[in-house]
Amino acid sequence: MSRKPSVLITGASGEIGHALISRLAKANGDRPIVTLDLNPLPPESVALVRQAVTGSILDSALLDGILAQYEVDRVYHLAALLSTRSEFSPALAHKVNVEGTLNMLEFAQKQGESHGRPVSFFYPSSVAAFGLPSLAVKTKSGKVKEDEFNVPTTMYGANKLYCEHLGRYYSRHYKQLAAETQSGKVDFRCIRFPGLISAETVPSGGTSDYAPEMIHAAAEGKPYACFVRPDTRIPFMAMPDAVDAIFRLMDAPRTKLTRTIYNIGAFAPSAAEIVAVVRSAFPKAEITTKVDEKRQGIVDSWPADVDDSAARSDWGHQPAYDFASAFGEYLIPSIKKRYAGG
Ligand code: SER
Repeated sequence: MSRKPSVLITGASGEIGHALISRLAKANGDRPIVTLDLNPLPPESVALVRQAVTGSILDSALLDGILAQYEVDRVYHLAALLSTRSEFSPALAHKVNVEGTLNMLEFAQKQGESHGRPVSFFYPSSVAAFGLPSLAVKTKSGKVKEDEFNVPTTMYGANKLYCEHLGRYYSRHYKQLAAETQSGKVDFRCIRFPGLISAETVPSGGTSDYAPEMIHAAAEGKPYACFVRPDTRIPFMAMPDAVDAIFRLMDAPRTKLTRTIYNIGAFAPSAAEIVAVVRSAFPKAEITTKVDEKRQGIVDSWPADVDDSAARSDWGHQPAYDFASAFGEYLIPSIKKRYAGG
């Protein structure tokens, strides 16, 4: 039992969770970290947290148990089914991605009511919240702003876009007609991430996965068939910059934030440019193209790049890695080490 202000991370066994836990454990002092995931937490993460709960965000009794035991004042709600996986099981995706998020917002609201302070709530949205109608419009539009093209073509994108609105509702308008309003107990902050590439982990079930899969396969000496055309372009970011952005946004004074949802970008290479950089690092890499029309259609509906000027001016978003340094200084050296000489 800990009544110290605590942090709860859902989806903690996923890609962002893995990177976030190690940074939080360093930055957090003795603030307990509690995690919740359907999958057991990897052992290197278990060592860094107070309690790793294996279970579902749909299990209200489990959430009530955490609520009774900890004084959570910060939630990182990372649990979700990613975009490709969600197209195979749309109803399940809606359950996990939307009902799960509603449960976590209710959890945060109740926590805030019980200890009287707003609960900071981080929510990762995605470029999947956009839906561009054609390749011609995508090419012409270049960097898109947060409020443009909010017409996603996937269940995952629709889930993310709606949960952005749910978060804004809990943060700004909760129970506005109730006699005694309990508003303002959830301080919801959201980033729309580009495709993320980590040297430590490989994602599963996403549609931007071609970039990380290609790099990890090359390092392991395995052939890889890229499932999108060489000219396909979407924004990407190195995982350390994604975690940095989460820290910057969560540390920003609320008065500085002009929005609840922010685009962030770093670099936006075509698939052919990624292949070229992977080949120069791993000259023996066997990379071919085998287009999956459905996944191609999804990526074609995502923007070629994002306008992240609001994140830069409101809370100092500033990725450390551009395309060259993300590969040259982070991904290639760390991945080579990981696969021992790959
Ligand atoms: N990168 C994720 C995916 O491809 C989107 O958030 O599903």
